[in-house]
Amino acid sequence: MERKTVLVSGGAGYIGSHTAVELINAGYDVVIADNLSNSDISGVEGVRAITGVDVPFVNVDCCDKQAFAQLFEQYNFDSVIHFAAYKAVGESVADPMKYYRNNLLSFINVVDLMRQYGRHNIVFSSSATVYGEADTLPVTEATERKAATSAYGNTKQMCEDILRDASGAYEQINGIALRYFNPIGAHPSALIGELPRGVPQNLVPYITQTAAGVRECLSIFGDDYPTEDGSCLRDYIDIVDLAKAHLAAINRMTEGRCNAKYEVFNVGTGRAVSVFELVKTFEKVNNLKLNYKVAPRRQGDVVAVWADTALANKELGWQAERSLEDTLRSAWEWEKRVRNIK
Ligand code: UD1
Repeated sequence: MERKTVLVSGGAGYIGSHTAVELINAGYDVVIADNLSNSDISGVEGVRAITGVDVPFVNVDCCDKQAFAQLFEQYNFDSVIHFAAYKAVGESVADPMKYYRNNLLSFINVVDLMRQYGRHNIVFSSSATVYGEADTLPVTEATERKAATSAYGNTKQMCEDILRDASGAYEQINGIALRYFNPIGAHPSALIGELPRGVPQNLVPYITQTAAGVRECLSIFGDDYPTEDGSCLRDYIDIVDLAKAHLAAINRMTEGRCNAKYEVFNVGTGRAVSVFELVKTFEKVNNLKLNYKVAPRRQGDVVAVWADTALANKELGWQAERSLEDTLRSAWEWEKRVRNIK
């Protein structure tokens, strides 16, 4: 079989690096592009260590169209998975232009260059954030998108729309948007994982850093929500399972099995887990006590969101496999490795 190449933009980051591993293990050649603005070269080194492949890395900002075009000159990929984006919700509210400039411009450049160089398949990293506070749960891909409450969420919706319109208008372009729920955990090798800069905004890195003694105490944001135990419900998806959903999307596109020029899939487990349940499971599987307290609700949080995964199960032939227990073990193994804890 002729080997196919996939460009992974943002491939040094958390989701990108895990996806690069799954693509390489499945027989694809991968080129990683990243400007390392919110990631580290160790992500690329981890991919190389796990796969034994000297995967090419190009340090480029996708917003710099001329520099980005060089990559299209150099490598003959037909598919791109575009991860490269900023992703901190709070920061995007404080500095929206930073998010519009970076997230929109880099994606527009991807679409333009794919057209210019005669390339075909684009997978876009979208998010369950596009559903906002949904009227019915679980959410299906047909569930109405709510007006975004942050510039970050807005860029996800806008890039989805750009991909829908571009793939609708240009014969050559095919698009798949994957709407991720809450990605957590690390590779079983503990060679790659999530490396947040500064104080983590997301739950699991905050938990693992608290367990490691880097943070004093986890704040549980709200115990008075209208849920069984009063904390928010989310759909936590294992990072390796999420990476495999990207592989399934790329296989579907390169094998010409798409039902439409633009498709959208939820990538979650279909299971709602509360913050308390997640914390307790983490304590149990790792045999430790976590220092935590209940704190006021965090502004902008939705009460509950979880995925109906039927479409992804059927069309991508993909489903989440790793248990929450194994995922939370892997998250702790990774944190221990980063902190040199035995
Ligand atoms: C958020 C964004 C999502 C984005 C994702 C990754 C929203 C609604 N969602 O997801 O779009 O893709 O981040 O950046 O903006 N929690 C605590 N204590 C903490 C941290 C979190 O109790 O220290 C709780 C939160 O209240 C929430 C749950 O844990 O109920 C998960 O939070 P988090 O990991 O930040 O993810 P989301 O807010 O769901």
